[in-house]
Amino acid sequence: MQPKTISELLSQNTVIPEVEIKGWVRTFRANRFIALNDGSTINNIQCVVDFEKFDEATLKRVTTGAAVHIKGELVESQGKGQSVEIQVANLEILGDSDPETYPIQPKKHSFEFLRENAHLRTRTNTFSAVMRLRSSLSFAIHKYFNENGFYYMHSPIITGSDAEGAGEMFKVSSLDPKNPPLTEEGKVDYTKDFFGKETNLTVSGQLEAETYAMSLGKVYTFGPTFRAENSNTSRHLAEFWMIEPEVAFMDLAGNMDLAEEFMKSVIKYILEHNREDLEFLDKRLQDEDKKKPQAERSDMTLIEKLNFVTDNHFKRVSYTEAIDILRNCKPNKKKKFKYLINEWGTDLQSEHERYLVEKHFKCPVILFDYPANIKAFYMRLNDDGKTVRAMDILFPGIGEIVGGAQREERLDILKEKMAAINIPEEELWWYLDLRKFGTAVHSGFGLGFERLVMFATGMSNIRDVIPFPRTPQNAEF
Ligand code: 4AD
Ligand code: MG
Repeated sequence: MQPKTISELLSQNTVIPEVEIKGWVRTFRANRFIALNDGSTINNIQCVVDFEKFDEATLKRVTTGAAVHIKGELVESQGKGQSVEIQVANLEILGDSDPETYPIQPKKHSFEFLRENAHLRTRTNTFSAVMRLRSSLSFAIHKYFNENGFYYMHSPIITGSDAEGAGEMFKVSSLDPKNPPLTEEGKVDYTKDFFGKETNLTVSGQLEAETYAMSLGKVYTFGPTFRAENSNTSRHLAEFWMIEPEVAFMDLAGNMDLAEEFMKSVIKYILEHNREDLEFLDKRLQDEDKKKPQAERSDMTLIEKLNFVTDNHFKRVSYTEAIDILRNCKPNKKKKFKYLINEWGTDLQSEHERYLVEKHFKCPVILFDYPANIKAFYMRLNDDGKTVRAMDILFPGIGEIVGGAQREERLDILKEKMAAINIPEEELWWYLDLRKFGTAVHSGFGLGFERLVMFATGMSNIRDVIPFPRTPQNAEF
């Protein structure tokens, strides 16, 4: 088989008289050396041009960003940094790129600038590496579930229910927003809408996944989810992807085991299959780190962090134990927590989560048995009557990466909890049916895919790990 991509060409160790490649020019040095990239690898292939053999007009068109088609001989490279290169015999310009206006110059650009050029930012080393890793991670996720007896379930994007009961939904409506039909009470009449009722974009596929777990046994969803929360942080998106496994006859302890094994397995996959990209990103981070004062430098490299997660047990700690630790800690004499935790029953802020993970335990942490009042209605109430079988997984540098729970399987208690927060039974009649017909213990969790990609790539802003980020201020593309 003839090598077809730059990745394949670079792995050759024999001379090949005729090779052919298409890609985009990264740089053209001394009218002689084209560094060409086609997206198949972080590495460019060097294409050596004998300028006497080509007319000046063609060579002038070899500019950064131009698409070219090259034919030539693959030979051993005399230069440093690569084992092979192409001696160009044929050079065809497929698409010009005006060097005056092409935004991606061969120099370091800020991530802010590249975010404004999200349509071209994968032409850079950092973003192409991040997006190849994103693709690999999603493959590893499907692979893990496929090999472990799970069915892939497609949960709906348009739905009438609010899975998290938090009211953070984007409405879907075909009605004219300026002049909607009104009911006698003057409210928007959604019975006249396309779907005949009020609908929204899904915040989570969990409730629908529960219906499938209660027939197919082990299922997972992996799709886009939407949150209309006005959080402008480096960890929140209005549109993000979530992986949600749901398993019948599995309790909270089983849920923790599954989450830990699953996370380790997908991280192992990229350590084995995406070495070059990880090494590139690792070096980038180490260079950034060197610019920081000693005290702020990371004590592990990216690859060490990934290995640490795969090799160590996630620490399991109850919410009550965590609150005790936070109450008694002295995080830093000068810099106290902005939000102090004094009372049992308050939710943890991300600074608390990060303290537990990064300073106290120094490893991934699974927090469980949260107070019922700060968690969603569907979580299984414990016998103490005040905590629920919830679990959050906290990762270093990220904070919450997974949220999950054992589900309330008892009809009467679920109805009470829904009534307490005014969810009408008619709205979730089908969800209640699962508790009427063959109910059973079941559990699941949601992994925020972009937060996993952040952890795996060391990127510090969630906007830089999804192709076209949707945040309160940004939906240009
Ligand atoms: O904790 P959350 O809200 O849990 C659920 O949605 C459950 N229904 C999941 C389940 O049990 N099946 O969200 C789960 C994860 C979070 O831990 C976080 O990683 C991610 O989804 N997440 C977000 N990621 C990016 N932007 C946002 N706005 C996010 N909100 C949640
Ligand atoms: Mg959560």
